[in-house]
Amino acid sequence: MKKTLIIGASGQIGKKLTQLMLNDGNDVVALVRDKSKLSDITDKNLHVIEADLTGNFGHAFKQCTNVVFVAGSGGETGADKTILIDLWAACRSADYAKENAVKHFILVSSIGADAPSTGPESIQPYLIAKHVADEHLMRSGLHYSIVRPGTLTNDDAKGKFTTERPAQKGDATVTREDVAKALLFIVNNPSKENTLTELFNGSKNISETFK
Ligand SMILES: NC(=O)c1ccc[n+]([C@@H]2O[C@H](COP(=O)([O-])OP(=O)(O)OC[C@H]3O[C@@H](n4cnc5c(N)ncnc54)[C@H](OP(=O)(O)O)[C@@H]3O)[C@@H](O)[C@H]2O)c1
Repeated sequence: MKKTLIIGASGQIGKKLTQLMLNDGNDVVALVRDKSKLSDITDKNLHVIEADLTGNFGHAFKQCTNVVFVAGSGGETGADKTILIDLWAACRSADYAKENAVKHFILVSSIGADAPSTGPESIQPYLIAKHVADEHLMRSGLHYSIVRPGTLTNDDAKGKFTTERPAQKGDATVTREDVAKALLFIVNNPSKENTLTELFNGSKNISETFK
């Protein structure tokens, strides 16, 4: 059976994705730094590995077919953690994936990672970290899908998407629930080509969005 490693499985998107993947009958390896955060999910197909992304975590990749990197240092930490997690842990994950012959690497990046210098100054270190991690994956030789969501919200899923950046900044949003659904779709329907797409709520069904 295909095994998917979710890095950041205790996060807001990560936990939703973990549950969606399990509901869908997938074998999931959940990499978390505190396994009690997944104690409410019990499933015979769930294998939890406790590891901190600032240490070694290469053992988590063994026999995994897919990797979804959905970790992030979060807005409350400083640039040091942004470099350690959003940049370095993401780059090291791609390296570990390569060593373990992973078939498909899905990276959750961010809107603005294409042009960090044009973003608000306060988040430029974050956008640079995402940019460098994206570039590292693109150069890795792995089969990849990079998703750059707009501003995340905790609204209920809308089930409708677009990959075209909305003209109004305030419309460039997507719910975490919808990002998790999109990631599930991408894992289950890998495109032949490598892809890099921004993602927002819009008007298309998921299969039209990622055809
Ligand atoms: N906020 C936005 O509007 C926005 C927009 C575009 C993209 N994004 C990106 O979307 C992604 C997911 O967002 P989210 O809201 O789901 O994030 P989140 O809830 O903050 O989840 C982040 C995950 O990373 C894990 N993590 C952080 N440091 C770690 C470490 N040292 N070792 C192991 N795990 C660690 C967290 O573990 P714990 O549970 O233990 O803390 C958590 O599981 C992030 O990469 C974010 O940058 C965000």
